[in-house]
Amino acid sequence: MYTDKVMEHFANPQNVGELPDANGVGEVGNAKCGDIMKMYLKIENGIITDVKFKTFGCGAAIATSSVSTELIKGKSIEDALALSNKTVVEKLGGLPDVKLHCSVLAEQAVKAAIADYYKRQGIDPALFIAGGGDSHAEHHCCGEGDNCG
Ligand code: FES
Repeated sequence: MYTDKVMEHFANPQNVGELPDANGVGEVGNAKCGDIMKMYLKIENGIITDVKFKTFGCGAAIATSSVSTELIKGKSIEDALALSNKTVVEKLGGLPDVKLHCSVLAEQAVKAAIADYYKRQGIDPALFIAGGGDSHAEHHCCGEGDNCG
């Protein structure tokens, strides 16, 4: 059901934990499955210098969080905002259709953390992030039809 890459990240997730000095923290949940993902970012001069996550959810949610942190660490805010769930899925070598929504959660968690960072700077995140980076986004379809969710 899962690729080796998914199993690798599930068994040995990268960047797990909290960042006490995070300046952007985002938490998202999927109303349907009840899984929750929390992303902590340390942003300096527009660069994500450190990132950690805590995910209370399925194995795919853990794997997608893990790979997302690897993809955005050391990158600019703009690059992190451009991260799509499709890229996350590709990096994992694919996900079963019924698990695609887990990758959407990872994308949303990154955006929610960046939205929080902007808010802390007194900047309206809606200027940069579609939907304003709602920190408690409800289930949102990834465009994969009925398989999403
Ligand atoms: Fe909900 Fe994976 S089943 S995030």
